[in-house]
Amino acid sequence: MFVGREQERTLLRDRLARVIAYGEMMGPLSVVTGARGLGKTSLLADVGERAARDGFVVAWVSGIKHQRFLPDVVDRVTRSLERADVLGTDSSRPARRVKDLGVEVNLGVGKVSATVGLDEAKEAATSPALVGPVEDFFHHTANLARDRGGAGLLVVIDELHEPLTSRAEREYIAHGPAVVDAGVLLNAAQNMSRERERYPVGFIGAGLPQTKALLMRAATFGERTREVALTGLDEQTAKAVLTEPAKQLDVSWSADVLDMAHAESGGYPPALQTIGEAAWHAARPERGDVITLEHVTAAQPAVRSEMTSLFQARWDVATDGERDFLRAMASQPGTEVRRGDVAEELGKDSDDLGMVRRSLINKGIIDAPARGRLRFTIPGFGEFVRSQRADSDDEQGQQQSASGARLRAAREQLRERTSHRTARHDLPRHGPTRGGPQL
Ligand SMILES: Nc1ncnc2c1ncn2[C@@H]1O[C@H](COP(=O)(O)OP(=O)(O)OP(=O)(O)O)[C@@H](O)[C@H]1O
Ligand SMILES: [Mg+2]
Repeated sequence: MFVGREQERTLLRDRLARVIAYGEMMGPLSVVTGARGLGKTSLLADVGERAARDGFVVAWVSGIKHQRFLPDVVDRVTRSLERADVLGTDSSRPARRVKDLGVEVNLGVGKVSATVGLDEAKEAATSPALVGPVEDFFHHTANLARDRGGAGLLVVIDELHEPLTSRAEREYIAHGPAVVDAGVLLNAAQNMSRERERYPVGFIGAGLPQTKALLMRAATFGERTREVALTGLDEQTAKAVLTEPAKQLDVSWSADVLDMAHAESGGYPPALQTIGEAAWHAARPERGDVITLEHVTAAQPAVRSEMTSLFQARWDVATDGERDFLRAMASQPGTEVRRGDVAEELGKDSDDLGMVRRSLINKGIIDAPARGRLRFTIPGFGEFVRSQRADSDDEQGQQQSASGARLRAAREQLRERTSHRTARHDLPRHGPTRGGPQL
């Protein structure tokens, strides 16, 4: 059950309201950005559901690492119109026209993608021969959606950073065809926004914090992208993640448990979900029951093990050099650390660490909340990294199997738990992303 994020929901809905009221384009691409697990997909799903109720035909695409995505956009838009019964039979005029326009988009962009290198991709994506058919495609499809009594067309592109992610660590070498796709789409959107009354359409994307920077590499108009950056949930929302679903079943949470869950989760939604599910399981509540500290304490082993596997998954994808960097970060006090302090800890020049830093940001393990500052994207990852340091010191660089590391972490937690039974930090600070992190 999605709760909170009222500000972001309202902002996106207000932009969509323009399409509903005047049949004109929502404006430049809006992208929801934030670290893994902060609720980008859930927010998009919520906005998408609401838009569908308001009469939009919604086409949903998920970007895939180093792959083109414009063909998926064309395909999803076509299918969504079919499903909404906007196109009629396969042989109807609108259906044939939409398919022809889609083919034109794919052929044009596909041909150019195959021949240009990354260096020319940004320039190639401005070509009217490529951008024009995309504008025609959206003009046609969005107006079909609107003419049939709908508000218009909403195109949602989740994981937008994935196609544009660099394939090399030292420099930005992306998948050229994906860059052409992004460039063509942004250039088309820019042209459409100049004649917005012709296009009852909205574009919303989502991705990791680097998404806007990646879009700016793909098109001159990338900087017009409107970013909606998500951070951890505020106290009221964090508590509501636990109380709202329970309320429907007439179950409540005691106030002290809610305070503790909020503090320990750091406002990280998957952590709250894990705490909620495990405590629920421990309490097996019936109507009118209250979930108390006793249940949450009983749930701790389950929460800890889920959390550890989330941390472990991130640790496993880090290279040795990146792990050194993570350890140096974890050795600093506070949740935000200075880039310079990390470099000093490693005895290196901060500029020499740029590649490692970028790679960790691309993997979604750390982010840079302000210039020269770094932090772990999941609160509590620092504690886990510190425990890894102890492990590897013990083993003098021996190869660690993932399950061995998990077992050790679990043992360590057990020791910690028995020594601070009631301590606040006894509860894990974060939990796993549902379905596992896609690093
Ligand atoms: N506002 C919220 N209310 C309730 N649950 C939430 C909220 N935000 C996130 N969640 C829950 O947290 C988990 C992670 O959310 P979601 O998958 O939307 O994050 P994400 O930012 O898309 O992550 P990723 O970058 O890995 O794709 C899900 O289980 C989701 O239900
Ligand atoms: Mg997501």
